[in-house]
Amino acid sequence: MIAGRDLIASTGFEFAKEGATRPLVVTDAVVRGTGLLERVADGLRDGGLEPAAVFDDVPQDSGIDVVERCAAAATASGADSFLAVGGGSVMDTAKAANALFTHGGRVRDYEGLYALPREAEGLGRPLPLAPLACLPTTAGTGSEASLAAVVKDHAAGVKVELADFPLFPRLAILDPECTRTLPAAVAAASGMDALTHAIECYVCTESNPHGDAFCLQALAMIRDSLERAVHEPGDEEARGSMLIAASLAVVPSGSGGFFGVAHSIAHACGGRRGVAHGVANAIALPHAIRFNAALPAVAARYRDLAVLLGVETGGAAEAGEALADHVAALVRSLGLPGRLSEVGVSAEDVPALADAAMGDGCTLVNPREPSEQQMADLVRGAL
Ligand SMILES: [Fe+2]
Repeated sequence: MIAGRDLIASTGFEFAKEGATRPLVVTDAVVRGTGLLERVADGLRDGGLEPAAVFDDVPQDSGIDVVERCAAAATASGADSFLAVGGGSVMDTAKAANALFTHGGRVRDYEGLYALPREAEGLGRPLPLAPLACLPTTAGTGSEASLAAVVKDHAAGVKVELADFPLFPRLAILDPECTRTLPAAVAAASGMDALTHAIECYVCTESNPHGDAFCLQALAMIRDSLERAVHEPGDEEARGSMLIAASLAVVPSGSGGFFGVAHSIAHACGGRRGVAHGVANAIALPHAIRFNAALPAVAARYRDLAVLLGVETGGAAEAGEALADHVAALVRSLGLPGRLSEVGVSAEDVPALADAAMGDGCTLVNPREPSEQQMADLVRGAL
């Protein structure tokens, strides 16, 4: 993980250390239109690497069919590695394609936790994948620092998650140049994803002092940089800080595996209604905070975060409400929608969304276990 200005120019030098010689560049049409790829290609060649080909066909909400085409493109072009230049959808496509490129098979063969091929049956050492480097062009998902990849099975209307150690990128380059042309709405939504990672991880059942350190540092940087990065896109320092904060915020989740019920609801809304991940999190998070704050121990943890964010609270009893109000106000100030009904979700969707959210892995680590009725109330409350 390296962070700083003009590091794109060192892409080849850094990626060569990981054994790459001919990477398939994975990206999307928007990034291709910014001129960033030419600089990345120059950076590769400066280090003695030659791009095998460019796969720029990743949509906003990538699917298993795209992953399979990406893996086939890597094979056909004679690539020996992957370089993802894009946001979460691009990085996750490259990660999942790498699994197919290396091991063959279909995406759903590797669905779930620790499902990649191993040296021995069971939980033996996982076999390595081809080298993967990430240059994130959004600050939020943290996929460049995680072992997870989420892609959609559009036919089934579900998000498919792969999570295993070989999916960790070998190299991530956090250069603010990569987010220079990011639209404000995308900067806001992806920034709220990072904020949701930090807040959910800080109170989840797996929280611990090491993870807390990542959450608190990420949240302090988001506090100081998110609104600047959205409202003043020329602020390179703010954009650079948001890239670092996003990569920090994903680490305490077991590096991308688990968060809490805001993410469960976001995954359900993304899978069934195509709601953008960051937007769904931004809408769901205040409701998740109010629900969890009913537990006094969790409310006390929320008070830590409220203090860090400069939110006035009385005692711990009021901290959850104050933090939830602060997050909801931040969502509005960033220009994002505040209700699921504004993004295509209706009352008829509630039972199916609640059912999907109950079955999501993130619900397992939420500090307060919801009943099905409570989950439905949470989704209905966010409409
Ligand atoms: Fe997320």
